[in-house]
Amino acid sequence: MKEPVELRDLCALQGFPTPTPPWQRGNSQVGDREQSPITEGKDRVCSGWTERKGRSPNRSTTQSWSAMDTLAHLLQLLVLLLTLPLHLMALLGCWQPLCKTYFPYLMAMLTAKSNRKMESKKRELFGQIEGLMGDSRMVALLDLGCGTGANFQFYPPGCRITCLDPNPHFEKFLTKSMAENRHLQYERFVVAPGEDMKQLADGSMDVVVGTLVLCSVQSPRRVLQEVQRVLRPGGVFFFWEHVAEPRGSWAFLWQQVLEPTWKHIGDGCCLTRETWKDLENAQFSELQMERQPPTFNWLPTGPHIMGKAVK
Ligand SMILES: C[S@@+](CC[C@H](N)C(=O)[O-])C[C@H]1O[C@@H](n2cnc3c(N)ncnc32)[C@H](O)[C@@H]1O
Repeated sequence: MKEPVELRDLCALQGFPTPTPPWQRGNSQVGDREQSPITEGKDRVCSGWTERKGRSPNRSTTQSWSAMDTLAHLLQLLVLLLTLPLHLMALLGCWQPLCKTYFPYLMAMLTAKSNRKMESKKRELFGQIEGLMGDSRMVALLDLGCGTGANFQFYPPGCRITCLDPNPHFEKFLTKSMAENRHLQYERFVVAPGEDMKQLADGSMDVVVGTLVLCSVQSPRRVLQEVQRVLRPGGVFFFWEHVAEPRGSWAFLWQQVLEPTWKHIGDGCCLTRETWKDLENAQFSELQMERQPPTFNWLPTGPHIMGKAVK
């Protein structure tokens, strides 16, 4: 690897069961969003926002959280009533097929915008793939929950891409992205969920990429187990995910309020997942991530985490 990840790197994320680094030991409140210093050291390269963590919430914090949870449930009910037809359709099973059909169009629209905003960060992240190429100058790359092929333009030449997504309606968009990115080799499009990638052999991938996927899967834990199974030893999982706002913040309350409805509109997308915990629990040999501000302030998707995990 060009830039080896040597040791675990646990970012300033709520709830990590790790020793609290100095910049997290201040008096900041849950929900505070301060730029934390970027700390570089032998065992840590971490950047992001600070949040109070590493100590349990006190009584008044717990009380204020539970008051906000109650308010969230009331507002949730209100939104549920306002969007009742949608929920009834979902209950009767007629919403999902519709959603699977329009969602690729929605993603195609959003992807163009988010790629413009994230261009330099994505280039930086996926630029590291080149360092994983051996003498053959090739890597086998699994694009997990590939969607429209949003990341193809950022992969370096020499990638042999396997696309995987449970929604076959993305194929049309994938084909277009493939035609626009002829510097890559495309192996196949597997229509399957990340929780069960039996079509892919153990240790068959050098790289797995998942962007904005763990929010939508049924079980992040099972998907990460499958990612580890298909990666070769030393293979790298690159990720970029939106995550829950800090507990106790108004932004988190709105995520809670909108989540049940958002899930139907966004094809299963959950707003309040603390995905960093799943990554930490997955027991990769090395984990590195940074926290980023929301890509779009007008969406409730919240902050993001970006990084890599080594098998
Ligand atoms: C928000 S889109 C992101 C697409 C693409 N990765 C991107 O960055 O634009 C979420 C994607 O995850 C896919 N997905 C949903 N459930 C999944 C699962 N269980 N396993 C793998 N992918 C899944 C969806 O079909 C969709 O393509």
